Amino acid sequence: MKALITAGGRGTRLRPLTHTQNKHLIPIANRPILQYALESVRDAGIRSVGVVVGIDNGKEVVDWLGKGDAFGLNVEYIWQDAPLGLAHVVKISQDYIGSEPFVFYLGDNIVVGGIERFVTAFQQDEVDCFLTLARVHDPERFGVPEFDGDGKIVGVVEKPSEPKSPFAVSGIYLYGSAIFEAVNAIEPSERGELEISDAHDWLLKNDYRVGHGEITGWWKDTGLPGDLLEANRLVLSTITPSIAGSVDNTSDIAGQVIIEEGAEIIASRVRGPAIIGRGAKIVDSYVGPYSAIGPDSYLQRCEVEYSILMDRAVVREVDTRIEGSLLGADVEIIRSQGKPRVQRFILGEQSRVEVV
Ligand code: DAU
Repeated sequence: MKALITAGGRGTRLRPLTHTQNKHLIPIANRPILQYALESVRDAGIRSVGVVVGIDNGKEVVDWLGKGDAFGLNVEYIWQDAPLGLAHVVKISQDYIGSEPFVFYLGDNIVVGGIERFVTAFQQDEVDCFLTLARVHDPERFGVPEFDGDGKIVGVVEKPSEPKSPFAVSGIYLYGSAIFEAVNAIEPSERGELEISDAHDWLLKNDYRVGHGEITGWWKDTGLPGDLLEANRLVLSTITPSIAGSVDNTSDIAGQVIIEEGAEIIASRVRGPAIIGRGAKIVDSYVGPYSAIGPDSYLQRCEVEYSILMDRAVVREVDTRIEGSLLGADVEIIRSQGKPRVQRFILGEQSRVEVV
């Protein structure tokens, strides 16, 4: 069995972070989002992985992942000229997949508990396509299945304004070769994309066997900024504490906390679950639950909670607690010096600041 993992698209809903970074490399608990997909397929026993990247921002992924050796994988790249839809991704990957069954895994999805049981169910049920479903409060954001009275899926609609069930089709699919017939038969949707939901609907309407299973643990599609914070919270709540960095004797560490190598905690309080990246320095500060502090960040006389700070972020002498925030690499929030004492912002396109 092979796996096909997406790392293309433009990530427009995550701007400004995605102006300068491929969305799949944004860190969740200090690991790129894509790493969770790679580890999931590896833990299901799959070694051959095709990663689909866009020609505009794929190089970054290649630079980070290479041939996949660090994850025990054999990675090949499939280049997509433009984000023309998920069924298009499958279409251009036919040569790589050949006639093998495969897992199609959206690289921006994170699922805890792994995918092995779905792989097993797909093989045991001998279906052409196996969909994994998750109960959500906002199905209109996703592909949504419709069921008959016996609980069998009879249709799938992409982002319906009136969802026919409270389920999302998650971004982890299992396919046999019939999916290639489907992606070659469908037409682009109104938004100009070849929709994967239309391919699933085509399989159903053409009497192919479509099975399904429910994700009962948690699953997150990291499409929006709030999703990143939630995914970060959920991953951090599963961490095993470890302290490789240094903590001075005036600091207090409580709860599940990872302090990576070279990190220094000085006169500070860290309340987990939280992760402090390698080389980060926390001085006279409070880091509260569900915070991921990136490598080489610097915090001084400030309070941060339920936030993601990326590499080398600086927060210095800020009175108000920073909460529910995403700071990109090299971002600085510092107390202004001199007179008059003003708020001064240097913000790139589509940045967002809330002041009190
Ligand atoms: O996460 C589950 C949802 O994913 C499903 O419920 C929907 O049916 C499915 O269409 C998809 O919806 P999204 O709107 O979340 O898809 P998005 O455009 O965010 O793309 C998902 C992943 O695929 C992401 O890793 C980017 C990548 N991608 C996307 C497109 C459209 C590509 O690599 N190439 C593409 O052409």
